[in-house]
Amino acid sequence: MVEGDICDPAALAGAMQGVKHVFHEAALVSVTVSVEHPLDNDSINIRGTLNVLQAAREAGVKRVVLATSAAVYGNNPELPKRETMLPEPESPYALGKLAGEYYMKLYSHLYGLEAVSLRYFNVFGPRQDGKSMYSGVISRFADDIRQGRAPTIFGDGGQTRDFVFVKDVVQANLLAMKTDSVGKGEIFNVATGRQITLLKLWEILKGISGSDLKPGFKEARIGDIRHSVADISRIRKDLGYEPKFSMEEGLSALMDGLGKERTR
Ligand SMILES: NC(=O)c1ccc[n+]([C@@H]2O[C@H](COP(=O)([O-])OP(=O)(O)OC[C@H]3O[C@@H](n4cnc5c(N)ncnc54)[C@H](O)[C@@H]3O)[C@@H](O)[C@H]2O)c1
Repeated sequence: MVEGDICDPAALAGAMQGVKHVFHEAALVSVTVSVEHPLDNDSINIRGTLNVLQAAREAGVKRVVLATSAAVYGNNPELPKRETMLPEPESPYALGKLAGEYYMKLYSHLYGLEAVSLRYFNVFGPRQDGKSMYSGVISRFADDIRQGRAPTIFGDGGQTRDFVFVKDVVQANLLAMKTDSVGKGEIFNVATGRQITLLKLWEILKGISGSDLKPGFKEARIGDIRHSVADISRIRKDLGYEPKFSMEEGLSALMDGLGKERTR
C-alpha cells in the first residue's frame, strides 16, 4: 500500500518503488462538490486515477484495486443494480469513477497491470466523518445523536440504500487483491444486497442509542437517487465474498466507536 498525492506524478512514482499491491481509495468523494467543482473532480478522480495507474505500471506493481462507486448506475430505476447494466453517470463524480473503471481495464489489456474495480454502495463504519453536510447519512445521523441534535432527512425518508459495513468492504478489497482468477479490469458491486429506508435506519440507530430525537424533513436533494440496492451474485461467485455484518451489528459498532471517542 502506498500513500501520496495522486495529483503529483513524481511523488507517486517515488512512493510506488518496490510496491506490489495498491489499493486506490483516494478521491474527491462528494457528488455535490463534484457538481460545484467539475475541474477538481477531473484532476483528482480522472487524472489522479490515471496518475496512479501510470505510476503503478512504471514501478512494476502487480495489482491495483480501485474504489469506484454505485453512483455510476445513476437513476436507472431497474433494481437490483447489476454490473452488466449500462452505466448512466449523472454527476462529474460518477463519470470520474466510470472513467477510472475503463482506465483500469485499459491498463490491464494494454500494459498487463492486474486491475480490479470495486463499486462500493453506501459504506459506513466507526470514525467516519459526520461533521460535513457532504458526509454520508449514517455518519451524519450518528453525529446528530452524539450532539443531541435533531437529524435532517432530505425528502420523505422513504428512499432506500444498500448500506455496507466497512469491514465487509475490507473483506472485498482483500479478496479482490488476492484472487488469482481475476485481475483483468473486472468490476464488482460491494454491498449486502439488502435495501433499507432512511426512516428504518434512523429507527435502528435510535433503538441502539436510546435517543428520543425526532427527525426534521427538508426538500429532497436535487439528483438524489430514490432507490438503490445491489445484486452481489458476481462478487459472491468470482471472489467468494459474503457480507458478514447485519445493519444492527454495523450500527452498534459505529455507536460503540462514538462512545469510546466521547470518553477519550
Ligand atoms: N463512503 C462511501 O459510502 C463510498 C461509496 C462509494 C465509493 N466510495 C469511494 O471510496 C473511497 C474512500 O472513500 P471514503 O468514504 O473513505 O472517503 P474519505 O474522504 O474518508 O477518503 C478519501 C481520501 O482521499 C484523500 N484524497 C483526496 N484527494 C487526494 C489527493 N489528491 N491525493 C491523495 N489523497 C487524496 C482524502 O484526503 C481522503 O483521505 C473513495 O474513492 C470514494 O469515492 C466511498
